[in-house]
Amino acid sequence: LTPDDSLRQEISNNARVITDGEALRKAIHQERRKGRRIGLVPTMGALHEGHLSLVRAARKECDCVVVSIFVNPTQFGPQEDFRKYPRTLESDLEALAGADVRWVFVPSATQMYPEGFSTYVQPPKVASPWEGECRSGHFRGVVTVVLKLFLLAPADVAFFGQKDFQQLLVIQHMARDLNVSVDIRRCPIVREPDGLAMSSRNRYLNNVERQRALGLFHALQTVEQQVADGVRDTRGMVEAMQKTLTDAEISRIDYVTIADAETLEPIQRLDREAVALIAAFVGKTRLIDNCLLNV
Ligand code: PAF
Repeated sequence: LTPDDSLRQEISNNARVITDGEALRKAIHQERRKGRRIGLVPTMGALHEGHLSLVRAARKECDCVVVSIFVNPTQFGPQEDFRKYPRTLESDLEALAGADVRWVFVPSATQMYPEGFSTYVQPPKVASPWEGECRSGHFRGVVTVVLKLFLLAPADVAFFGQKDFQQLLVIQHMARDLNVSVDIRRCPIVREPDGLAMSSRNRYLNNVERQRALGLFHALQTVEQQVADGVRDTRGMVEAMQKTLTDAEISRIDYVTIADAETLEPIQRLDREAVALIAAFVGKTRLIDNCLLNV
């Protein structure tokens, strides 16, 4: 076997499921000492093609990939879906079986939050608007768990989906502000053939709601069309998105905006990289979607 062959053989084996954070940290350090590049894909499980695309991106760039699966209680509000959030470990492991993943890290809640846990990360400024306003405490839970994952799985690179656009910015700022030496990669949104952004929460939708949910994608398409037509004033764009959502019988809208893609402050004119952001309820299910707008 050449060194390349043995590496290939090693990574074609099934992933090792690790529940102990210390064991994972040791295993990763061992590989890093051998010069291997480590990629981390943090997830809450209920894996779909969007997650698998993150794993593929990680495999492309890294020698060893670790996927974490942990439904993080601290990022759910008291009225949110923590209890009913899908927990599908068996099918998640099946989905990862052919994906060249080295470790699947599945910590217990008590391991991540032992008795007496009381230290939280204060999220950066970019966490304040939009999701930050609608889901109080959400980003505090996200940055806290992500920092813990970065410490337990000391990777070179971590992969996140653009679907949670604000989360991505929040994690980038946290990593920069706290000198965390993990590169953050943004990976494209993966959509169903009809355009619905893939999400673990899509499984909550019944058939009628599944159809209505397309309103989010169509609203974003409306804006993309306006940009292609040369529109630069964002007021009409926001109105058009709202109308598309209402026409799709989506009436409970948390926010619809065009914002600066770095600061997330709303903008009046498209004169820099911007992002169209939507959060709305379809039935009882809260969905988010976005698209980048370049002029
Ligand atoms: O995007 C998610 O699935 C979660 O917010 C994350 C990043 C795994 C933290 O729990």
